Amino acid sequence: MFLCELTDTLGVETLVTDDVGLAAEILRGGGVVAFPTETVYGLGANAFDGEAVGNIFAAKGRPADNPLIVHVSDAVHIDEIAAELNAHAVAFIEKFFPGPLTIVARGTGRVSAMATCGLETIAFRMPANPLAHELIKAAGIPLVAPSANISGRPSPTTWEAVAEDLSGLIACILKGEPTEIGLESTVVDCTGDVPILLRAGAVSLEQLRDVVAETVILNFADDMAVRSPGLRHKHYSPQARVVIIENDASVEPSQEAAYIGIDLPVGAFGVLKLCSTPEDYAHSMFEFFRECDRAGINVIYCQSVAEQGIGTAIMDRLRRASVG
Ligand code: TXA
Ligand code: MG
Repeated sequence: MFLCELTDTLGVETLVTDDVGLAAEILRGGGVVAFPTETVYGLGANAFDGEAVGNIFAAKGRPADNPLIVHVSDAVHIDEIAAELNAHAVAFIEKFFPGPLTIVARGTGRVSAMATCGLETIAFRMPANPLAHELIKAAGIPLVAPSANISGRPSPTTWEAVAEDLSGLIACILKGEPTEIGLESTVVDCTGDVPILLRAGAVSLEQLRDVVAETVILNFADDMAVRSPGLRHKHYSPQARVVIIENDASVEPSQEAAYIGIDLPVGAFGVLKLCSTPEDYAHSMFEFFRECDRAGINVIYCQSVAEQGIGTAIMDRLRRASVG
């Protein structure tokens, strides 16, 4: 069994373990535990315990008006937290659970208001990662979990990245493999007559439309602040400036600059990542941003990709990272 403790200057000890039973015990006792999912690492707490949920917001420095996703391991949990699932929600659940899809539906009111930010709706998903599944099952309660990073930083795709941001601030990190997908789940609002894609992810708009043809994509300028509060906050940003480049745009190679993309750039860069596919790009992007920060890079050139499949999610995260 792997076990070690990380302590920061505050003197709070963060247990790093691969013992699911121990991590579940900490959760049941009201503690906050980071754990791997197939998308990114999450920072979990008992969804019914307002004080535990409050500790997530405190550790991340997360704005209090940004609601959390509830992570479930079975249909019993879904019944506990979500009411009035419509036919679209049921169809998406049947097709994509467990997996990287989050459904927004009307809530039962059982989840702590701290987590829902007082909304009448609830966002929930069933992670496909076996460790995440085991942890929720062992804890016996649904877990609310945002990505396990300091708010505004790139989401963590390794347990080391979680430790980089949160060691000394949380009780425990459940140590797993690097996450498969690398970008956060797709979020789809199923509270109305027509499903609305709120956040792009590994489950693509095309795949959602295969199940419910009328699914629409949220117009960025429209009502996104009302629909999904988290979308209006700054996200995913490394310290370096992120510059999105189209294929014909010029980049200025230097040792203080970095490049990530599918095609080989001209010139030498301080940090370089060539991705074999859009999936590889998604998988590598957030860790690459962190690597650039560790290397003291000033500007990160990111090659744009076609907005289809996972490419829509890649471009969404790149645009948000490049703002501000
Ligand atoms: O892949 C993921 O979804 C990861 C892993 C850990 O599961 N979690 C994640 O959580 O990305 P977070 O907190 O970083 O993003 C949650 C998103 C935010 O955009 C938030 O506004 C939205 O879900 N959300 C939560 N509750 C909502 C609701 N009731 N209505 C609309 N959007 C909601
Ligand atoms: Mg996040």
